[in-house]
Amino acid sequence: MIYSRITGTGGYLPEKVLTNKDLEKFVDTTDEWIVERTGIRQRHVAETQSACDLAEIAARRALEMAGKAPEDVDLIVLGTSTPDLVFPSTASLLQGRLGIKNGGAAFDVQAACSGFVFALSVADKFVKSGVSKCALVVGAETMTRLMDWNDRGTCVLFGDGAGAVLLEASEEAGILSTHLHTDGAYEHLLNVAGGISRNSEALLEGRAFLQMKGNEVFRMAVNTLGRIVDETLDANQMSKSDVDWLVPHQANIRIIQATAKKLDMPMERVVVTVADQGNTSAASIPLALDTAVRDGRIQRGEVLLLEAFGGGFTWGSALVKF
Ligand code: ACO
Repeated sequence: MIYSRITGTGGYLPEKVLTNKDLEKFVDTTDEWIVERTGIRQRHVAETQSACDLAEIAARRALEMAGKAPEDVDLIVLGTSTPDLVFPSTASLLQGRLGIKNGGAAFDVQAACSGFVFALSVADKFVKSGVSKCALVVGAETMTRLMDWNDRGTCVLFGDGAGAVLLEASEEAGILSTHLHTDGAYEHLLNVAGGISRNSEALLEGRAFLQMKGNEVFRMAVNTLGRIVDETLDANQMSKSDVDWLVPHQANIRIIQATAKKLDMPMERVVVTVADQGNTSAASIPLALDTAVRDGRIQRGEVLLLEAFGGGFTWGSALVKF
């Protein structure tokens, strides 16, 4: 049996920081409201950098940790909803940036905030089937470019960043299972309603903003994430106490707390970065993972539950022996 194991992690946040106090100056909001309802205190903003710029730094850091060179990479799967261009894909651009010649496949996966879990699941299947031996999986976003800075219900929530993991084929257990879901009936609750073949004028006129009915999305997120915890544990015949760390998508501290409660997990065993980073969509899980690996909290051999919920709706999980 071949497994895919995470052998390196990397993350990158752009330099500019926008605090809640900064937002108070031009949005009808308060630091108190944002902290109480979301747990967010600040977010990073990519001023001139693109998703590929952020991804390249995170990817190089993951490669360095794993002791691998770019030319070892035979697959890149990149989750993003904020690609540099329509095409080439951001994964293709990243492959070029890394200087990989005649490489294997490189492509983007678009699953909004679940993008990293979807990308990880795809790459895991390539590795388990023997097609890939060394896969780079990235989540990279410039979400602040999709913000309507007059909409206080959304613009206070999101931030920019990138995270990456290197997956290598191994006989030792690594990714134990992944679980992905989509329910396409909820476009009206969460969308960016400007595209190439629909509402292209919104895109061309700079009005293609992220729109969300936050309260309804919140309820759906808590319910579906609760269900996917059971699905993931059942598939592995594991119980809640077998999980060492919850590494959740970072949308809102209250959603994270609800999932931790479902797992009977104390918040000390949950990796939380939302206060400093906001919701970086597909980048948030690999960024959180990288933070807790580098600060020594997550140790080799521990069992991690990764989970995300996002536009689509999409939701997914991965159970990982690190
Ligand atoms: N500052 C001050 N007041 C605000 C702000 C703000 N930034 N935003 C909203 N309010 C007000 C609203 O206008 C409303 O006022 P009203 O009662 O007078 O009408 C009040 O606060 C309550 O608004 P709610 O939307 O009900 O607030 P809620 O407690 O639900 O919090 C939030 C909103 C933070 C958006 C929450 O619903 C949430 O986190 N939703 C889920 C987000 C998520 O997980 N998205 C999925 C991932 S995103 C992706 O896939 C791209």
